[in-house]
Amino acid sequence: MDPQEFREAGHRIVDHLADYLEQVEERPLFANVEPRVLRELFDEPLPQEPSSIHSVLLELNEKLLPYCTQVNHPGYFGLITPSPTPVGILGDFIASALNQNLGAYSIGPSAVAMERRTVRWLTDLAGYGPDAGGNLTSGGMMANFVGLKLARDWASGDRAQHEGVRGPWAAYTSEERHVSVDKAADAVGIGREGLRVLPTDEHFEIRLESLEAALTEDRQKGIRPMAIIAMGGSTNTGAVDPLPKLRKIADREKLWLHVDAAYGGGMLLSQKHPGVLEGLKLADSVVMDPHKWFYAPLDAGAILVKDAARLTRSFGIQPAYLTDPLDKESERYNYYVHSFEQSRRFRSLKVWMGFKRYGAREMGRWIDANVDQALRLYERASAHPDFEPAVKPRMSAVCLRYHPAGLGEDRLARLHAQVARRIEQGGRFWISTTLLKGKTWFRVNPVNFRTRPEHLDELFVLLARECSAVLKSS
Ligand SMILES: Cc1ncc(COP(=O)(O)O)c(C=O)c1O
Repeated sequence: MDPQEFREAGHRIVDHLADYLEQVEERPLFANVEPRVLRELFDEPLPQEPSSIHSVLLELNEKLLPYCTQVNHPGYFGLITPSPTPVGILGDFIASALNQNLGAYSIGPSAVAMERRTVRWLTDLAGYGPDAGGNLTSGGMMANFVGLKLARDWASGDRAQHEGVRGPWAAYTSEERHVSVDKAADAVGIGREGLRVLPTDEHFEIRLESLEAALTEDRQKGIRPMAIIAMGGSTNTGAVDPLPKLRKIADREKLWLHVDAAYGGGMLLSQKHPGVLEGLKLADSVVMDPHKWFYAPLDAGAILVKDAARLTRSFGIQPAYLTDPLDKESERYNYYVHSFEQSRRFRSLKVWMGFKRYGAREMGRWIDANVDQALRLYERASAHPDFEPAVKPRMSAVCLRYHPAGLGEDRLARLHAQVARRIEQGGRFWISTTLLKGKTWFRVNPVNFRTRPEHLDELFVLLARECSAVLKSS
């Protein structure tokens, strides 16, 4: 591909994407197509001969674009994949062109500096001081894994990196934790059975008396408590555990306090709702995902640590072939030494560009608008005789359910699933269903800067209509 072909194709792609973003609301949000049809569309052997970029792009037009889930659509209220900012899209394009490998300073000096500054902006938002550090990860799943590894290594006096976990250990979290915490418990060697999954109260926050009871029981059995994993915005309802109180318990019990604010971290930009994440700065480590409620394109998660030296203690191995004897550690920061990954994509570019182009204040207005939209839906549901909201949303995730008299839980679970599917087929909205305390709910999560209040009104009218239609048809 010569530079002229690259230039022409690039212009064409940008024009195409600009049209796509401008018209996104006019397209069906979700493609009603059988997975088999998609499999068959891509069913061909490895191409042996070249094709023109023109024909490759035509194929994308035919096979890929019509069947994408339109997360840019203002009616996408699904699984915390926000609308990416246009400047973030351009940032990723530039990152691929430059292909800086942030694993090692020598493969991206300015990119390393930019990533460190971006991490600093995030640690400042978290309320951490100058000793804090962190790195960008593929997402919250990876960042929670790193958080638990940091906890394990700290709790073992830096033996577990070498010896593994010896004897039974336990970590404490709530029933509203994300599944990544269970995977992390497995990956760091305490096992999923080492995770104490504790009940929540009516606000879906961890019950402290259950935590105290579990700690006492484990100590009596000779099981070693290691960490508390608190929610800083749960996936279902945006619940925030009582962080200052958890800090006190962690100090008394000598536990690491990790907070999963992968979704909720965006609330730190809110101007209308300050203090929702009160006590976040007391955590030893925090997960906060720019690719969630900071509207960056995938992928960009972040693990943030109050004491950056813990990263080095936990991950530091420096093989000879990667060591430059002339380096002074303070001048040449090698991410591979202080993190799990070696080759690392230049994730911070799109995050940095997003903060620069829009500013934290403008992004905060998007956050506040999303929270207002969730509250609007909550109020609609509260006022309707056949609907019930789970809890008043503190963030933008709202759960509501349809419960006309006389229907059992199994029937209601089927009804909610059928309605969510019908809404998907309608192509205007996408919502999910979830389980909270054994009951099925619709989960609606505005995380999109294109969404307007009227979209929530339209969704609620549609929900009410579809619920009664499904009820009548059964
Ligand atoms: C609270 C929370 N933690 C962690 C994750 C996992 O993040 P990711 O999908 O970026 O790996 C999610 C995903 O939605 C989440 O809501």
